Amino acid sequence: MTDQSAAPALRVRELHKTYGNGVEALKGVSLEVQAGDFYALLGPNGAGKSTLIGIVSSLVNKTSGTVEIFGIDLVRQRSLAMRQLGLVPQEINFNMFEKPLDICVNYAGFYGIPRRQALARAEQVLKEAQLWDKADKMSRTLSGGMKRRLMIARAMMTAPKLLILDEPTAGVDIEIRRGMWKTLKEINAAGTTIILTTHYLEEAESLCRNLAIIDHGRIVEQGPMKSLLAKLDVEGFLFDIEGELPELLPQIPGATLQVADAHTLDLEMPRAMDLNRVFAAFDAAGIRVRSMRTKSNRLEELFVRMTTREVQE
Ligand SMILES: Nc1ncnc2c1ncn2[C@@H]1O[C@H](COP(=O)(O)OP(=O)(O)OP(=O)(O)O)[C@@H](O)[C@H]1O
Ligand SMILES: [Mg+2]
Repeated sequence: MTDQSAAPALRVRELHKTYGNGVEALKGVSLEVQAGDFYALLGPNGAGKSTLIGIVSSLVNKTSGTVEIFGIDLVRQRSLAMRQLGLVPQEINFNMFEKPLDICVNYAGFYGIPRRQALARAEQVLKEAQLWDKADKMSRTLSGGMKRRLMIARAMMTAPKLLILDEPTAGVDIEIRRGMWKTLKEINAAGTTIILTTHYLEEAESLCRNLAIIDHGRIVEQGPMKSLLAKLDVEGFLFDIEGELPELLPQIPGATLQVADAHTLDLEMPRAMDLNRVFAAFDAAGIRVRSMRTKSNRLEELFVRMTTREVQE
């Protein structure tokens, strides 16, 4: 028996997925999300985010690898594992001709929750989603943002321990998005582990404690949001040096200076730092700079790529 209380909310190991058409959407993804965490899966279009979520929520068959939800193996104990999980898919998929109250109550019915209990729970989740005044209106008449909130309310009907949202705020304006962030923060504060996918670093930044960046089916960065942001705040330069390098390199407080080759120095410094300080230190050490160029930062490149792709869409 696995000790469920100590197990991570999600543990994915070496997940591979090749679709029938030969597209290799996941190329060995491993990650762990601790219970209580608010975790972002960040990545551009086609990165494999929905595929990963689809496998975790049993909607997509994996090619290989393992998935555990609170220590429960998704293959060996599928229904028990699924009971821990609430899913908000990327596309709105409720019946537009039903009312929010019925959508929530019927959904709970699938999970065997008695009607009376479901009605009480529906009132609670719809109030939390600020949709209680719309409970008896045809869902078709809800605004886009309200429909998104209804998707979250419905997933909360079963009081999942792990809530997974696939781009919950896609296509909603910033005001509604902020409202949804507040709702999600409250859900997380009340003890539900949340994983969400997004294209927006800003969204991940304001919500999540930990994240993974996925690109072309691989995790390219993983860890606490804070350390990722710290990395993005560093700038790198390469200096071509005239003549010989001194034996002792100058110390530049806050920056890291290394020898790249006999005529090149490699410098990393906080973005806010003044380059004049660097040149002054070089001068004092008798280092003459012939030319300099910025060193590309892998992470930053990734983000530039992500944002430009977004603009192209
Ligand atoms: N049912 C499918 N059959 C074949 N290929 C698919 C299928 N679903 C997704 N793919 C492909 O798998 C890759 C990953 O797609 P996925 O939907 O997981 O990306 P995503 O990160 O969710 O992208 P987005 O941000 O656009 O939602 C893409 O190349 C996509 O075209
Ligand atoms: Mg997707």
